[in-house]
Amino acid sequence: MDIYDVIKQRRSIRKYKADMVPRELVLKVLAAANWAPSGMNEQSWEFLVVGGSKLDELRDVCREVINLRLPPEAERTEQQKAFAHWYSTLGGAPLAVVQCCPRESDPARRKMVLESMAAAFQNLLLAATAEGLGTCWMTGPLAKQDKLHAILDIPESKEIVAVTPLGYPAETPAPVPRKDPELKEKVRFIGL
Ligand SMILES: Cc1cc2nc3c(=O)[nH]c(=O)nc-3n(C[C@H](O)[C@H](O)[C@H](O)COP(=O)(O)O)c2cc1C
Repeated sequence: MDIYDVIKQRRSIRKYKADMVPRELVLKVLAAANWAPSGMNEQSWEFLVVGGSKLDELRDVCREVINLRLPPEAERTEQQKAFAHWYSTLGGAPLAVVQCCPRESDPARRKMVLESMAAAFQNLLLAATAEGLGTCWMTGPLAKQDKLHAILDIPESKEIVAVTPLGYPAETPAPVPRKDPELKEKVRFIGL
């Protein structure tokens, strides 16, 4: 698939088939993430591929996060109920990928490292799309990062950056409209 098609076809997928993703395919997608550029070529991303009972624990943490954010269950709108279901199940995906990096105390270094993480995570998402897999970049679960550290046995020296379910999509969401698609406000050519 042409790179521009992959970029446009990537969607945040919030419903998945239960089918397991072969390990070789997971590694192929993560190898694409590993080809991302990184500040000072540090390549300091790490990926935890989470399944089985650990994924159940991860879903439980996500359920806690969404219950903190939404009104009590009895007062939820249909849309809020659907969003709570997505968070509590991670859409039924068979796997989740958790990205970590070294914890940086210096703000400039942390910015550089987090930008490198984002480059790698986007590579992961695009490679997954090209392979017919679904993803959804999530930072919401980090609201309970202490619990994530505990259940995934991540040391304090590492920062959890992002989470995505990984699996075969069971929905084809419509593209989310882009703001200023003609780039009249977002782009300025200077000196040209
Ligand atoms: C940094 C970042 C954090 C996000 N966190 C969440 C999240 O916690 N939960 C969620 O459902 N979607 C999350 N998203 C997905 C966005 O909601 C989604 O990308 C946006 O609505 C556009 O939809 P699209 O990805 O299908 O183009 C996140 C996306 C990014 C880039």
